[in-house]
Amino acid sequence: MSSELSKKALMPPDILARKGSRPIVCLTAYTTPIASLVDAHCDVVLVGDSVGMALHGLPSTLGVTLEMMILHGQAVRRGINQALMVVDLPFGAYEESRGQAFRNAARVMAETGCAAVKLEGGENMAETIRFLTARGIPVMAHIGLTPQSVNALGGYKVQGRGRDGERILRDAVAVSEAGAFAVVLEKTTESLARVITEKIPVPTIGIGASGACDGQILVTDDMLGIFTDFRPKFVKRYAELGRNAGQAIAAYAAEVRSGQFPTSEHVFRDAPGGGQVAN
Ligand code: KIV
Repeated sequence: MSSELSKKALMPPDILARKGSRPIVCLTAYTTPIASLVDAHCDVVLVGDSVGMALHGLPSTLGVTLEMMILHGQAVRRGINQALMVVDLPFGAYEESRGQAFRNAARVMAETGCAAVKLEGGENMAETIRFLTARGIPVMAHIGLTPQSVNALGGYKVQGRGRDGERILRDAVAVSEAGAFAVVLEKTTESLARVITEKIPVPTIGIGASGACDGQILVTDDMLGIFTDFRPKFVKRYAELGRNAGQAIAAYAAEVRSGQFPTSEHVFRDAPGGGQVAN
């Protein structure tokens, strides 16, 4: 398989062109099977650094490395046919300088076959976004609650209430003017999301930012009920896979202990006359 996305996969300009029209549907994926499921229904598949918490048991996204993002990106790439694939740049991989950001973003694109990267930050990252986009690296920006700054923000709090909204609006304008093709808006008020969505010419993708945005994203493991350590208000559960899996594992354990599994339908027997059989 080529490392490049298939010819029919969506590209950043396709997402940009959706501003103000059909809602843009986005979810995260970290593995090939989940990527295939998400790809069949979504416009954007994000290999989010939420992988650190959802799959690796880390307490935040701060411990996620570039190598982890590349490995999960390669797995996701194998499940993508039609969606735009975006990979998160992890904490520490782009903030130091524009050169560092370019080197790591280029490596992520070359080694995963993704068509864009996402990075967190507003006005403070505008020059970096300008540098990357001018050199052929499409950037999805991420403003509002930026989880990589959880310590500086003092927790996972709603951002942009009252006068603080002006700061987030400036961030939105700065990243869109710098060339971001879309902006993730996390955990902000509905009124601010509406103002930003009306003001900037690129799509806003909301996560806890209301239906006023041009699109929505959730962490797939949250909405499927696989990751259940905590549940932000903005997560709607569409399934309870974690609970179902727990019940299935308990049933298996009970059947092994009681001798109910395996039964004759799971057992291989000698072929009549000692010959070979397929199964
Ligand atoms: O890491 C992630 O999954 C994200 C989404 C929550 C937007 O950044």
